Amino acid sequence: MTNGNVLLLCGSPRLEGNTALVLRECAKTLEGEGLETETVLLGQTRILSCTACGLCSAGECALDDGLNEIIEKTREADGFIVGTPVYFGTARGDVTAALQRIGMVSMASDSFLSRKVGGPIAVARRGGHTTTLQELLMFYLINDMIVPGSTYWNIVFGHAPGEAAGDEEGMRTVRRFAENVAFLIKKLR
Ligand SMILES: Cc1cc2nc3c(=O)[nH]c(=O)nc-3n(C[C@H](O)[C@H](O)[C@H](O)COP(=O)(O)O)c2cc1C
Repeated sequence: MTNGNVLLLCGSPRLEGNTALVLRECAKTLEGEGLETETVLLGQTRILSCTACGLCSAGECALDDGLNEIIEKTREADGFIVGTPVYFGTARGDVTAALQRIGMVSMASDSFLSRKVGGPIAVARRGGHTTTLQELLMFYLINDMIVPGSTYWNIVFGHAPGEAAGDEEGMRTVRRFAENVAFLIKKLR
């Protein structure tokens, strides 16, 4: 019997970049705790912004850019972790566009995000991590989700692809965060 499953959304256009590296570490930790994981790379698609058409009560988004597939995966998951690179002190645009549409579909239909466990992770060269975490927490907290903490905020430093692996404290922090996501999902099932 499965202990639950977690969807990890990687917001970077760099498929082998630092955000992907950090999320691979999270997925490894979650799997070590007996959970199943799937990672979606947002860099493989272009995400449109919400057009406020109001048609999402049907349980899917009216825009046809592939996000509905991700929405379905989110609906089926017990946990939802979003990793983003920091761009000018905020999350990458495609990430906020995706989360606004996922959140609106949930809110306008069956509130499928309610009580899913997860949280954001911000990856950057030097600064803007905490503003980015605060920005993404707005998505989690308005959608009735449960966000565990860690031993520090979920921030990792790195610029050139692979550099994040050298941020020992950042990697330790996100591993503990992933352990706490797994801990809560197992308790809640
Ligand atoms: C448009 C743009 C804006 C950026 N803004 C910031 C920033 O505000 N702070 C920072 O520390 N790094 C900034 N960076 C650097 C990236 O956050 C950093 O390279 C990070 O490792 C990218 O993650 P990735 O490898 O997953 O794509 C920026 C990069 C780009 C392309």
